[in-house]
Amino acid sequence: MKPLRIALTKGRLEKDTVGVLEKIGLDCTQVREKGRRLILPVGNGEIEVVLAKAADVITYVENGVCDLGVVGKDTIMENGSHFFEILDLGFGRCRFALACRKGTDFFGGYKAKTVASKYPNVARQFFESRAMDVRIIKIEGSVELAPLLGLADGIVDIVETGTTLKENGLEVVETIAQISARLIANTASLKMRKREIEALAEKLENCIAKERENA
Ligand code: PRP
Repeated sequence: MKPLRIALTKGRLEKDTVGVLEKIGLDCTQVREKGRRLILPVGNGEIEVVLAKAADVITYVENGVCDLGVVGKDTIMENGSHFFEILDLGFGRCRFALACRKGTDFFGGYKAKTVASKYPNVARQFFESRAMDVRIIKIEGSVELAPLLGLADGIVDIVETGTTLKENGLEVVETIAQISARLIANTASLKMRKREIEALAEKLENCIAKERENA
């Protein structure tokens, strides 16, 4: 049988995912010693890990070239979901927040507001839910710069420890959503390889629950 193929978001989520895969007894030596390789066998070859950028994890799972994926809820909220979200993995916790320069009143005044974000869809949906007409500007990185340079009144971004905001004189106005890593599955794979996927998800779920109890 073909190995179950899992797309992993490279970086922080990759490390946490490898940690949890090892805890359920899967040998991840090849991933730990990957060098520049992007497709790595895990366990006894029953699983194959594909390392990809967050948004690409969704593309590979949606198109069925990967059966499963590990990706942040932030990427799911921004990119939509033509797949099944089967498990909250509990790690990669952070939040989406609206932030502005310390001491300024984002919601005050009548002037139309401008907000910068790496997540324009999330930002748009948030302001639509408030019936606020806000201009959204897409920024690729270090979005904290936009209000400091006078490009935007606020930002919608990920806040983990809050250090980046604090060190740049910004503060949270409102939390938009809580974020954590999710296990997602291709819809066809979930039918064709139901037993394998459910068995893996159950092991991961039990492992995460046990860790939470011991925390
Ligand atoms: C994220 C986010 C903030 C920072 C928040 O950026 O966009 O800049 O982390 O973390 P903190 O609350 O712990 O300070 P990331 O590090 O992913 O880099 P990027 O801007 O290149 O996407």
